[in-house]
Amino acid sequence: MAYRWKNDLKDKDVTDEGAFLNRRQLMIGMGALGAIGTGAFVGKANAAADLEPNSYEDITSYNNFYEFGTGKDDPAAYAHTLTTSPWTVKIEGMVDKPGDYAFEDIMAKMTIEERLYRFRCVEAWSAVIPWNGFELSDLLALAGVQSGAKYVGFETLYRPEEMVGQNRRTLDWPYVEGLRMDEAMNPLTIMATGIYGKDIPNQNGAPLRLVVPWKYGFKSIKSIVKITVLNEEPPCTWNQINASEYGFYSNVNPEVDHPRWSQATERKIGGGLFAGRQPTLMMNGYADQVAGMYDGMDLRKFY
Ligand code: MTE
Repeated sequence: MAYRWKNDLKDKDVTDEGAFLNRRQLMIGMGALGAIGTGAFVGKANAAADLEPNSYEDITSYNNFYEFGTGKDDPAAYAHTLTTSPWTVKIEGMVDKPGDYAFEDIMAKMTIEERLYRFRCVEAWSAVIPWNGFELSDLLALAGVQSGAKYVGFETLYRPEEMVGQNRRTLDWPYVEGLRMDEAMNPLTIMATGIYGKDIPNQNGAPLRLVVPWKYGFKSIKSIVKITVLNEEPPCTWNQINASEYGFYSNVNPEVDHPRWSQATERKIGGGLFAGRQPTLMMNGYADQVAGMYDGMDLRKFY
């Protein structure tokens, strides 16, 4: 599939923004030729959408990572205290090979790809981010998902001595999230390990975080230490705090407003004081690739 844009780039090979943009130009050029056009990375619904990447500075200085505070600049200010090596991901539950998987061992087995995705926070700001990472399905395949498994749960590190925000009860730590199995297996769902070809910075969820581009950003849980494969819906932090405002599914939907604000438009970060708002796209512009998973579901009820 064309959007599975593989390359030889390993996460550790640092590339600069310029080099990245050159490759991106190449990719978009190929899409325009139509040779691999249909269902391509840019996708039909996405073609008209804004895919101009935000700067590395924008992406790494305006963050939500409550483990380091609730201000948008807190993660960039405080996340340097987090030790990300050694790092292990415990994979457990309905898998053939449960256990502790060292980050390096995972990386050695994965092919790192670049994915240019729109990212839409439930708070109605957005960004376009060139991630590096691998498909979650490839990681789950390492552990061997057992038949009958229906959901995947994720957990962030709990280490209050390094995550200053965890000393306050802002959230019920550790941060947890979850996906339905077909969502987890969807080729758009990735584990990100880099941005712009550099290792993912701590404030963005080092050393590995989930990215589910058609869902509101809070589903994309950071700094993951545990993955549980199970047959019932796993608990999700924001859903547990207020289920009427933050659904389990939380697919981006401009037609279903948050109880306290409109979701019809969004503000792309980095635009400065007078930047306008842009329309929010159904499933963040990825409906072509993912809407089929929700056939027959009431997208208002399961927002
Ligand atoms: N993961 C953890 N562990 N803690 C958080 O506070 N915030 C979520 C999500 N993942 C969050 C998290 C929210 S609300 C958003 S919008 C995105 O991370 C922000 O990702 P970014 O800072 O890389 O843009």
